[in-house]
Amino acid sequence: MHEDIQEVLISETEIQTKVKELGTRLTQDYRDLNPLCICVLKGAAPFMADLVRRIDIPLEMDFMAVSSYGASTRSSGVVRIIKDLDASVEGRHVLVVEDIIDSGLTLNYLLELLRQRNAASTKVVTLLDKPNRRTTGLKPDYSGFTVPDAFVVGYGLDYAEKYRNLPYIGVLKKEVYADPNQL
Ligand code: PRP
Ligand code: MN
Ligand code: MG
Repeated sequence: MHEDIQEVLISETEIQTKVKELGTRLTQDYRDLNPLCICVLKGAAPFMADLVRRIDIPLEMDFMAVSSYGASTRSSGVVRIIKDLDASVEGRHVLVVEDIIDSGLTLNYLLELLRQRNAASTKVVTLLDKPNRRTTGLKPDYSGFTVPDAFVVGYGLDYAEKYRNLPYIGVLKKEVYADPNQL
């Protein structure tokens, strides 16, 4: 285990079992719909890569990068597009792939945008759901695990751009992110 990790919350095996399960459900639900899977960069990249390989029907992939305006915490709800989609979503069955839903602000904005662009349907699959932190009414259509309000990293989730490459979801040690003057 990485030295900055306090405990493994979800193991690599548990993640892969769940990804397979979600893939099976999505294979059934999106049969004949040629879904457009949209990865929300960067956090969702590992999940997206594993998930699409468990969806056994034709599909397309696209990528979008967004960023919240403002300071350290994303509370404004204003989201800026860093990288837009390459393809049109008009008439497409869109599946947004996320690593985690926290406040729900990122997805609120994205889903509204996709609807304005006339997607035929817009659904969300997230690996992790942190409902305690929700400030919006957003609910994922497909969710892997519900997690407590702890500082989780790994499998795409970062702290200051680190730990995305851990194959498991872990809780970060407090001393790694806390202000040393507060300890
Ligand atoms: C994280 C995470 C989700 C979003 C969830 O991304 O990957 O995309 O925040 O938060 P919300 O529900 O409160 O909007 P982040 O903005 O940190 O970018 P990253 O994916 O590049 O790490
Ligand atoms: Mn993200
Ligand atoms: Mg992040």
